[in-house]
Amino acid sequence: MTNLFDLAGRIAIVTGSAQGMGRAMAMALAEAGADLVLLDRNAAGIETTAHTIRQLGRKALPIAGDVTATDHIDQVFATVDREFGRVDILGNVAGEAKAGAAEDMALADIRTTFHNLVISRYYTCQLAGRRMLAQGKGSIMSIGSIAGVSSLGRAQSVYGMAMAAVIQMTRELSTEWAGRGVRVNCIVPAQVLGANGLGPRMEADPWLRDTFLRGIPAGRFGQPDDIKGLSVLLASDAADWITGAIIPMDGGNLAMNGGGGLLAPIMERHGQKQ
Ligand SMILES: NC(=O)c1ccc[n+]([C@@H]2O[C@H](COP(=O)([O-])OP(=O)(O)OC[C@H]3O[C@@H](n4cnc5c(N)ncnc54)[C@H](O)[C@@H]3O)[C@@H](O)[C@H]2O)c1
Repeated sequence: MTNLFDLAGRIAIVTGSAQGMGRAMAMALAEAGADLVLLDRNAAGIETTAHTIRQLGRKALPIAGDVTATDHIDQVFATVDREFGRVDILGNVAGEAKAGAAEDMALADIRTTFHNLVISRYYTCQLAGRRMLAQGKGSIMSIGSIAGVSSLGRAQSVYGMAMAAVIQMTRELSTEWAGRGVRVNCIVPAQVLGANGLGPRMEADPWLRDTFLRGIPAGRFGQPDDIKGLSVLLASDAADWITGAIIPMDGGNLAMNGGGGLLAPIMERHGQKQ
């Protein structure tokens, strides 16, 4: 039987692949057979990811730099053209945000956040998309957030607005490109642990941990590896008719109303406070 999830011979670019969900996505694609181009400003981190991928017998090309620098991204795609001659998969994972009360947010911080999460992702979509359209085939996955669907509060307005733009970017690009073989989808995580700032924030404020967990019916935080299966599915021919999809990866968070919750005995089993 044909393996619908086989990515052998495909070239994938994943941003933010030094750690967290970007690293997990890159590893999943490599385990399914793809060769990887790894982008991150953490040079040592992508070297480590590349080393692990090469041990699987796949090619890995780490290129250190900042995804917000368009001239760097131009150079990356020129290198990929030279080394591989094609791009089959793009994972847009890197990007960070500034937080602050809405009434105090500095314009510079709003611009920085939109540059990180929206403009740089749009730009990599453009460069990958042109090549994929010429090939007649390709798959783009961007990481959004539950913050782009409903409000987190807690001084995250600009992050939420930028992630909402990533979600709409997915709908727009998928609609423009679907008839020419290029699929564009968005993965929408709830709270995922890792070497990101979430752990220290919760250590500083245990109330936050309980609040997050009360919003996740599955009763646990996400782990970076939770993105692996979805990444392979969306990258592969198994998802040939899936485009423009905004897919929660959230332990049920978005399905539950803000006033909803678990029955008391189940909450106790999850170690959650009522
Ligand atoms: N972790 C969560 O709970 C969560 C939930 C929803 C959405 N997200 C989003 O998913 C993405 C990945 O999250 P994570 O927790 O896996 O991240 P992470 O902080 O663990 O890793 C991010 C990686 O991206 C790199 N990076 C960041 N900005 C960069 C830039 N401008 N240029 C090059 N490299 C850059 C970092 O060096 C790091 O290796 C982020 O956009 C985040 O906002 C995260």
